[in-house]
Amino acid sequence: MAQVIIMDHPLIHHKISILRDVNTGNKQFRELVDEISMLMVYEATRDLPLTETDVQTPCGVAKAHVLDGKKLALVPILRAGLGMTNGILSLIPAAKVGHIGLYRDHETLEPHEYYCKLPEDIANRLVIIPDPMLATGGSASAAVSFVKARGARNIKFICLIAAPEGIERLSHDHPDVSIYCGCVDEKLNEKGYIVPGLGDAGDRIFGTK
Ligand code: PRP
Ligand code: URA
Repeated sequence: MAQVIIMDHPLIHHKISILRDVNTGNKQFRELVDEISMLMVYEATRDLPLTETDVQTPCGVAKAHVLDGKKLALVPILRAGLGMTNGILSLIPAAKVGHIGLYRDHETLEPHEYYCKLPEDIANRLVIIPDPMLATGGSASAAVSFVKARGARNIKFICLIAAPEGIERLSHDHPDVSIYCGCVDEKLNEKGYIVPGLGDAGDRIFGTK
């Protein structure tokens, strides 16, 4: 079973509550996704290795800790994962960025690939895959398979809202991937939407409906 980490920070819960509100407009929705993504990646990078170094301060030498050269790649799932990218990059600006284009067929709910461009050295990086919604888990599972096919072995998936079905599918298909969820909702409806969820994340970020 994969490691599943559910956020317990009050700021994250507060902001997700506003996101869910049907009256929250596109501008505020985008800003909130940005902020929540930043807070979540702060949690998701908690276990990055550190190394000790000496730093000359104006008053002496400090034994300090810096990141141990661990390189990161951010691979958002298009389109809605794009909405989480800037928030994450504001904390880890040196990360390389790949893109995986997937859309869910409305009838079968199966993911279809339309784009995949990944950093060449992705195999040597910690890969963070953001997507706001983990519904059936088909898109997340396919995205992880793409980065694994390119040699990546150290992978974290970050979503704002997950359904139990999506967590089950992703952890079954990829038990080695850690799953970070803003919160876990009750279920999927007959159209594969998370209930209560927040609706269609892509449409709400980009204002397409
Ligand atoms: C949404 C969401 C996920 C996927 C989740 O994308 O952003 O990628 O659905 O569903 P799943 O867990 O059942 O696969 P969508 O296919 O609507 O595409 P979009 O981001 O372009 O709107
Ligand atoms: N994709 C979304 O954008 N929302 C859902 O609830 C499920 C899949």
